[in-house]
Amino acid sequence: MKLVVFFSAEGTTAKVAKDLAAELGAEVFEIVPAEPYSKADIRWINPVARCNREKFGKKEVPSVGTVENFSEYDEVYLGFPIWYGCAPNVVNTFCKAYDWSGKKLTVFATSGGSGIGKTGEKLMPFVSGAELVKTVLVKTAADVLK
Ligand SMILES: Cc1cc2nc3c(=O)[nH]c(=O)nc-3n(C[C@H](O)[C@H](O)[C@H](O)COP(=O)(O)O)c2cc1C
Repeated sequence: MKLVVFFSAEGTTAKVAKDLAAELGAEVFEIVPAEPYSKADIRWINPVARCNREKFGKKEVPSVGTVENFSEYDEVYLGFPIWYGCAPNVVNTFCKAYDWSGKKLTVFATSGGSGIGKTGEKLMPFVSGAELVKTVLVKTAADVLK
């Protein structure tokens, strides 16, 4: 069974994830932060904005709900916006709570211009046991499947 999991603060990654799920016939789960992000929260040019406090304070960022029957999925597609050259903390906190052993994991990310960089490597400690298929920077769902 296939699962598309995503976090999106501003809608770009959400569109890709939903299109991808439709294309794959996969279930979809949105990572929704327990405390939703306001526009001010993600205004990274403000040094004391929430996003900067979370990033530089290495904070855990809890999300709402859980994926039921996670163990039944053998292929997981994980999508998020690149924040500071890697996955947002809320994605790391989410991933840590699950057992990724034996899952084929495809990571896709959208960005404001930077490349995929070390996004995959930096995520690996949080998805231990997963078999990383690829990590790709995307604009559309088709880019994930190329
Ligand atoms: C807190 C924050 C940090 C970001 N850091 C980066 C970055 O390091 N490199 C980059 O190219 N874009 C960065 N961006 C831009 C987002 O990756 C980009 O706009 C993304 O497509 C947004 O996806 P979303 O609409 O699904 O939230 C950042 C955006 C925010 C809010």
